Amino acid sequence: MRPFLKWAGGKRQLLPRLREFYPEAFAAYREPFLGSGAVFFDLVQQGRLAGRRTCLTDTNGDLVGCYSRVRDEPEAVIQRLRRLTAGYKRDPERHYYRVRHKFNPAREAISNGHGIESRRYTADLAAMLVYLNRTGFNGLFRVNSKGMFNVPLGRYSNPRICDTENLRNVAAVLSAKTISIEQVRYADALACADAGDFVYLDPPYAPLSATAQFTSYTSEGFSTADQEQLQRTIIRLAHKGCWVLLSNSTAPEVAELYDGNRDAERAGLHAYQIPARRMINSNASRRGQVFEYLITNIPQRVSQS
Ligand SMILES: C[S@@+](CC[C@H](N)C(=O)[O-])C[C@H]1O[C@@H](n2cnc3c(N)ncnc32)[C@H](O)[C@@H]1O
Repeated sequence: MRPFLKWAGGKRQLLPRLREFYPEAFAAYREPFLGSGAVFFDLVQQGRLAGRRTCLTDTNGDLVGCYSRVRDEPEAVIQRLRRLTAGYKRDPERHYYRVRHKFNPAREAISNGHGIESRRYTADLAAMLVYLNRTGFNGLFRVNSKGMFNVPLGRYSNPRICDTENLRNVAAVLSAKTISIEQVRYADALACADAGDFVYLDPPYAPLSATAQFTSYTSEGFSTADQEQLQRTIIRLAHKGCWVLLSNSTAPEVAELYDGNRDAERAGLHAYQIPARRMINSNASRRGQVFEYLITNIPQRVSQS
């Protein structure tokens, strides 16, 4: 079981460190910035979510729509992906751009002016999204100012476009009555979090420098004001008795909000700096060592990896 999408800021590489902070016991699980769901799938793999209320949310309508179609119509998605795979094999470049050209108007048809309505996503769109995600540049999901997906073809020699077994496993897991997936902003998703819940938050990272900004997961970015609001939400959750775990960059604005910040300390939050490798940089030589923050009120356990 693994994520079926690649996603900017995906946390697979960081899992060994994140696992040190999974709580020993918890009530519900909440992941309000879902993306490819690396932590969710890891918890599933460890059997930690069996029978447990699990709320998965994200504002990206394509993402949430795609999860929903994979859950409800896995065979229709797989069938379409197989067809797309055959087309790609015949002529990758022409086929990629033909699919992209078809993807955008089909998305526009289910847009409400503010963005994509996930509940109107179709199996066709979900298959195209998985295809573009597996074959597009770095697996990015990026839209232009008009909301059009504009990622160019990636440089893969033999990409695995349709992983049938994984898609069927994902569909089976997501079909559990205890699991919900919704297109909701994080603040609304967390309004009902309760004491004992485990909340993992992986927001768009605060940029380390003005030019490093990469917040185009949706056409709305995640501003400094959003980071400040998120800090207040996390502090409220910690005071309420939730187990919170946040990942973020080591940008000065994040340090100010959590590292030595009196309100954060009073809420029992600790800021750990951990080494991580940054993947999103078009210049390969600059994909060097960077540090990230893990901010949490959960006692650290000895690494299990
Ligand atoms: C860093 S990514 C999460 C990556 C994820 N942990 C993974 O393993 O792939 C951040 C996610 O937050 C979502 N997002 C951005 N603003 C949001 C908001 N206000 N509320 C909820 N989700 C938001 C984006 O659509 C994106 O999927």
